[in-house]
Amino acid sequence: MIHAGSGGVGTFAIQLAKHLGAWVATTSGARNLDLVRSLGADQAIDYRAQEFDTVLSDLDFVLDTQGGETLLRSFSTVKRGGCIVSIGGLPDAKFARAWGLNPFLVLALRFMSRKETRLSRRAGVRYEYLFMRASGDQLARIAELIDGGIIRPVIDKTYPLDQIGAALAYSESGRATGKVVISI
Ligand SMILES: NC(=O)c1ccc[n+]([C@@H]2O[C@H](COP(=O)([O-])OP(=O)(O)OC[C@H]3O[C@@H](n4cnc5c(N)ncnc54)[C@H](OP(=O)(O)O)[C@@H]3O)[C@@H](O)[C@H]2O)c1
Repeated sequence: MIHAGSGGVGTFAIQLAKHLGAWVATTSGARNLDLVRSLGADQAIDYRAQEFDTVLSDLDFVLDTQGGETLLRSFSTVKRGGCIVSIGGLPDAKFARAWGLNPFLVLALRFMSRKETRLSRRAGVRYEYLFMRASGDQLARIAELIDGGIIRPVIDKTYPLDQIGAALAYSESGRATGKVVISI
């Protein structure tokens, strides 16, 4: 299950998951349901019209891009032994320790992510917060998949470098479909 399959992360994640042989469910706005299906999603849910946790259950894996209530509600959709990875929620204490953050921050993040920790224990679901690390090797492998026609990048808008502020504002709006590109 991939939240916001129509976003910059989701459009790639759906195609990577399909390439790896997964059955994929995703959420998006109504205007992008056809797009996410064309990327390979087997089940596409309009997040404004339907609550995903009333139609999905027994999943192996959720990629959360939204955090908040979306992340908390995702725990009921995953089977025991499954896993949720969030790039949209708050880092938890485990993440803070792994990144060597100071003990005060570790404590603060433990408190702030207590709901995720509790739900994770109760549901028997592994929870990981992920922060992207730039990796040339990974990008090269993704570029091969693009060149091979296996992954189709979805690009919403392209901005020149001197309009990077407008590009970031558009990206932060949460309404972009696919990637926002800076042309250098
Ligand atoms: N931790 C990290 O390393 C990392 C790395 C990259 C990105 N991120 C974060 O991950 C998040 C996702 O980024 P993104 O670039 O993929 O784009 P995004 O801005 O979250 O995605 C926009 C798309 O998602 C749809 N959408 C908005 N709210 C939704 C919801 N509640 N459920 C389902 N779909 C929803 C929008 O559709 P409508 O326009 O129809 O509403 C739009 O098509 C951002 O918060 C970003 O900051 C984190």
